[in-house]
Amino acid sequence: KKTYNIAVIPGDGIGKEITPEAQAVLEKATEGVAEFNYTDFDLGAERYLSDGTILPDEDLELIKKQDAILLGAVGDPRVKAGILERGLLLKLRFALDQYINLRPSKLYKGVTSPLANPGDIDFVVVREGTEGLYCGAGGAVRRNTPNEVATEVSINTWFGAERVARYAFQLAMKRKKHVTLVHKKNVLTNAGDMWQRVVDKVAQEFPEVEHDYLHVDAATIFIVTDPSRFDVILTDNLFGDILTDEAGAVVGGVGYSASGNINASNEYPSMFEPIHGSAPDIAGKGIANPTAAILSTAMLLRHLGFDEQAERIDAAVQADILEKGSTQRTTHEVGQDILARL
Ligand code: IPM
Ligand code: MN
Repeated sequence: KKTYNIAVIPGDGIGKEITPEAQAVLEKATEGVAEFNYTDFDLGAERYLSDGTILPDEDLELIKKQDAILLGAVGDPRVKAGILERGLLLKLRFALDQYINLRPSKLYKGVTSPLANPGDIDFVVVREGTEGLYCGAGGAVRRNTPNEVATEVSINTWFGAERVARYAFQLAMKRKKHVTLVHKKNVLTNAGDMWQRVVDKVAQEFPEVEHDYLHVDAATIFIVTDPSRFDVILTDNLFGDILTDEAGAVVGGVGYSASGNINASNEYPSMFEPIHGSAPDIAGKGIANPTAAILSTAMLLRHLGFDEQAERIDAAVQADILEKGSTQRTTHEVGQDILARL
């Protein structure tokens, strides 16, 4: 029985309420097969508002030594936009080189999609996690004058695109063997052209995998008109951010969407989090749905090689939704209900 060290960052708002439920499920699902040691990190808006700290170096160094990270949610209306996003969440993704942002979208039976004819939705967005417009390259000059100039530069490296593309094709081999590159190569002719050439090259290593291409604007249409056409969507950081919110909506809301920020070379720990935010409007009431956080633990387990246990969590969630998905329950009740099915 192996022991794993897990960094837990509940974060803000409902993050604090859903994370314990996820941990309880993780414990139960791995009873007898693995041991988890948790280290809680008090990071997020509360900490920042009380002492001005966002992510101290000592914490980052400690986090680097863990086997994986469980994150709740980060964000608070009292903190100016960008501070925690850049200083905590993106800093972790970048410092831990989590270049794969893995975001599955599956329409669980019993969940009502806003689409009239959703079909069988089951695709995964492989979003690049460390480059593109998220790098923070650029700047502002002559701020607060009529001559202000602001730039945000999208950084795309062959290395970065190639490693995420290879991951997408490897994933497609385990799925329906279809990769769709999404970009905007009719306008972003430099980066788009490079991404396409990367994909064409990597595709040669995977003769069984079919691949096609969509402009991002067209892709947003297909996600609502024909989502079952997708298997693996490969895209850059910002397009992936936007598409996965849309994808979350078509599978019944981001309450069912989990994600993994993966360092596929295992040099640093990977981080698992629900796609949804800290939901300050319902924080503190104990009514947030912990399902996405629980599904994040399934992704964590899959990452550590516990496929069977991950499968069981997935099945428990599916059964819970089918039977009780439409009932009003507290956060803890949903957690307990799912736990009872393991
Ligand atoms: C997400 C979020 C983040 C992102 C924000 C909070 C920085 O929207 O995880 O999708 O843009 O990646
Ligand atoms: Mn987002």
